[in-house]
Amino acid sequence: MLKNIKSTKRAAPLKKIKTEKELRQLEERYCSFGDTVHYTKHPKFFSNCEGSYLYDEKETPFLDLQMWYSAVNFGYKNTRLSHAAHHQLDTLPQVASQYLHREKVELATMIAKDAEKKWGTKGRVHFNVGGSQAVEDSLKLVRNFSKGKSLMFAFEGGYHGRTLGATSITSSYRYRRRYGHFGDRAQFIEFPYYFRSCACRNFSKPVTPCTNKYSKCYGLKGMSKEEYGSYCVQKFARLFESEYNGIWDPKTRQCEYAAFYVEPILGTGGYVIPPKNFFKELKKVLDEHGILMVVDEIQMGVFRTGKMWAIEHFGVKPDVLVFGKAITNGLNPLSGIWAKEEMINSTIFPPGSTHSTFSSNPMGTAVALETMKMLEEEDYETSVAEKGKYFLEGLKTLKKKHKIIGEVDGLGLALRAEICKEDSYTPDKAMMDWISDEGMKGNILVNGKKYGLVLDVGGYYKNAITFAPSLDISYEEIDLGIRLLDELLRRAEKK
Ligand SMILES: Cc1ncc(COP(=O)(O)O)c(C=O)c1O
Repeated sequence: MLKNIKSTKRAAPLKKIKTEKELRQLEERYCSFGDTVHYTKHPKFFSNCEGSYLYDEKETPFLDLQMWYSAVNFGYKNTRLSHAAHHQLDTLPQVASQYLHREKVELATMIAKDAEKKWGTKGRVHFNVGGSQAVEDSLKLVRNFSKGKSLMFAFEGGYHGRTLGATSITSSYRYRRRYGHFGDRAQFIEFPYYFRSCACRNFSKPVTPCTNKYSKCYGLKGMSKEEYGSYCVQKFARLFESEYNGIWDPKTRQCEYAAFYVEPILGTGGYVIPPKNFFKELKKVLDEHGILMVVDEIQMGVFRTGKMWAIEHFGVKPDVLVFGKAITNGLNPLSGIWAKEEMINSTIFPPGSTHSTFSSNPMGTAVALETMKMLEEEDYETSVAEKGKYFLEGLKTLKKKHKIIGEVDGLGLALRAEICKEDSYTPDKAMMDWISDEGMKGNILVNGKKYGLVLDVGGYYKNAITFAPSLDISYEEIDLGIRLLDELLRRAEKK
């Protein structure tokens, strides 16, 4: 009998596995391209992953230095977090959000208690699925609290997602251009991007007006990074000097804008790290004018910079904080917001204020809860700071060796390198694209073994490598990453 069952199984027709060529033809014909970002003509197929590596069909390891845009902070197939997902799958994988489950409540408690400990502010946590949806929810929360004000400030270079509301506070017009009028488009304020300001350039003769295409010149030559940070805040504060700047009614002391949406470090904008004093000074201006600060931690949160929330480096208390991505290590997605009690209590923000079928889904909350427990038990604050320093040293060595690197910088394991022309300054997007495509070929020989390198590209001129390696990356893997980059830069300079 058993034998029969076995033989029946064997007799089942083998599933025909499609070749890569066939899959590409099907993609070309049946997949929308609108839901993705195809940077290259032929995006690579991957079939496996582990730790810091993605693998193609030939099992070539590709060292990933971007980890799904900083969603997989704890490595692919992280044993502990995958186990939490498997466990939830076997117990309560599905339940509607109108009911409760233990993981949701415990997770919200951990996040809210952590915030209360750090900022002395009581608050609550609200869940959704993707980062953009959480940004949408935060917009509703802010509009509701500020009695219907619908305008926001946000940064030049800021990115908050691509749903309609999130697009309206994201700086790139490119993302709005085809979708009509955005009446609630944010007012975009300069982010202190020191490397591209004339403050940091040692021009032999200051020129007015500035003729340098890639920097802003306000006669700031020789300003330190911190002075430049203060300068940017003062420029913003000038908007409140008189009613004729268009945003402030001095008679009622009312601002037309409800909140300032900030990324502590620009993510898609190129991992630009502001001076230490910047947010403190900015928050002072916001508090003086009754404007909320919403901190978007979707990309920089969950220890990317060596702290749970990147804003902790800058000594300010957020009014609202938005998170997503790495809270579940890129497994079943979960996002959310933490907000101070007066904004989010059940009287002011009652049931149904926002809702999505999958908002506090049990798979996501279970993995996120395990992430939070892991972060309590392990000292990522120290390890990320140390590995980040080591990685940055490697990048500095590369910068000395290769003129086409303009600037390198980093905070924890959020690091950047700008690819430029031979003058180490003029952005070179074409070269950046070439380098990232070359890394995708998977043909760099190290100790007789072939490797590929996965890089993400961002920044104002799309010439910045934005490094977001696994926070569990080993020192040997950092060395390997620097070696692979060195080889790509050598090939780039030779071509
Ligand atoms: C800072 C920031 N906010 C919001 C988002 C949007 O999140 P999602 O892509 O999950 O919708 C992103 C995505 O990269 C982000 O980096």
